[in-house]
Amino acid sequence: MVKICCIGAGYVGGPTMAVIAYKCPSVEVVVVDISKPRINAWNSEQLPIYEPGLEDVVKKCRGKNLFFSAEIEKHVAKADIIFVSVNTPTKTQGLGAGKAADLTYWETAARLIADVSKSAKIVVEKSTVPVKTAEAIEKILTHNSKGISFQILSNPEFLAGGTAINDLFNPDRVLIGGRETPDGMKAVKALKDIYAHWVPEERIICTNLWSAELSKLAANAFLAQRISSVNAMSALCEATGADVSEVSNAVGKDTRIGPKFLNSSVGFGGSCFQKDILNLVYICECNGLPQVANYWKQVIKVNDYQKTRFVNRVVSSMFNTIANKKIAILGFSFKKDTGDTRETPAIDVCRGLLRDEAQLSIYDPQVPERQIRDDLSMRKLDWEHPGHASSVSFSAPEQISVVTDAYQATEGAHAICILTEWDEFRFLDFQRIYDSMPNPAYIFDGRNIVDVEKLRKIGFIVYSIGKPLDPWLVDMPAVV
Ligand code: NAI
Repeated sequence: MVKICCIGAGYVGGPTMAVIAYKCPSVEVVVVDISKPRINAWNSEQLPIYEPGLEDVVKKCRGKNLFFSAEIEKHVAKADIIFVSVNTPTKTQGLGAGKAADLTYWETAARLIADVSKSAKIVVEKSTVPVKTAEAIEKILTHNSKGISFQILSNPEFLAGGTAINDLFNPDRVLIGGRETPDGMKAVKALKDIYAHWVPEERIICTNLWSAELSKLAANAFLAQRISSVNAMSALCEATGADVSEVSNAVGKDTRIGPKFLNSSVGFGGSCFQKDILNLVYICECNGLPQVANYWKQVIKVNDYQKTRFVNRVVSSMFNTIANKKIAILGFSFKKDTGDTRETPAIDVCRGLLRDEAQLSIYDPQVPERQIRDDLSMRKLDWEHPGHASSVSFSAPEQISVVTDAYQATEGAHAICILTEWDEFRFLDFQRIYDSMPNPAYIFDGRNIVDVEKLRKIGFIVYSIGKPLDPWLVDMPAVV
């Protein structure tokens, strides 16, 4: 029986290993983590992360060929294949701070593998890492290894939060990079055999190590770039009377461009896009390519601009003052169907509104109150470094209330900001909501999910990103 151990029971390690166990009943999979509470949660009824379909897969395999354990050394020592799926956040201090990937967690894992291994291992980079990381890992492993053979593979994960299980069941591709030596190729084949249990062979791409490492950063940069491109267009649409949905539709019909990932919004979020682009920028700078670095930097700048533009639009539409006005925030996670709030645009938008002294009433169907309060009080990037959490509070807690349904959030509010595209927000009883709000009643739709005409008929003043402006807003001097 092939034995797999995965170091890191997070958003990637947990679902990925659950699917491998489910699809490969003949393989034993153990997921280990330094966080005991996380492991306990994986072993409980309340899994530590929410993903549609995840619970079902875990329950079918847990205790059979899928195990979650805090006994890291024991399971690493026994494994044939070790996936490393630890966090690789952006460095917050020292050389490359704010851009470079912090490989502390990775290096700790690699040292542990070197220390406890007594037999040959295939070590798989599942985390997103800078190109050439495998070289450094190889040095750490072989330096301490007492002659044990280690083969390093790069097998970046392309799943998206909110659709992780579906993405893992039907991946567009699985990418495996390895050394082009006989032992390297043998290791690639061993990993390929695992995925071949359910992924068609033509979708398993094998490359050299550096191409695989770089492809992950490149894919995220391309995806984020599409969002920033359409968001940049949304500002121009508002200035000219064009409708960004019509423009996206027309542009996406070109088969060379395609229709996906062309929705305008308040900005992209999630744990990866910004971090991976910053990492790419840093690598370009280190390789003497400032022009390339600046090109990718702009993708992040446009994303920040989009969030600032949204806040400015809210404030200027409401007569330049939102002090003490109740504003309902619908949605806090970075996208629907996930409770993940890492780098969610809601954090920056809420902070912008809090700076103007608004009273926020926040509702998200999946994000607990504690998480929202932590996110709004932590310094940027601190969430990725659990050990460094800042105690500095950046917002006044009394300005925030977190409630358990959309009607409670919107009751008596001067304005509503939709920041996540949860399906339930499309089907709210907006007449009931309007009747409970003072006039003028505003809706700022940061996800373009509401029926603008219908809401205007009810009496709302509606702003929807990249859409022709509400007649009420046209004459407002907006600093966007
Ligand atoms: P996460 O923060 O949810 O999970 C990482 C886990 O690793 C944590 O539970 C942490 O306690 C554990 N850990 C850290 N150091 C450890 C060590 N030395 N020994 C044992 N456990 C250790 O991170 P997530 O989101 O799963 O991401 C992991 C990697 O996958 C990152 O490199 C990320 O960029 C990449 N990735 C993330 C995606 C996502 O949607 N979240 C998608 C594709 C890639």
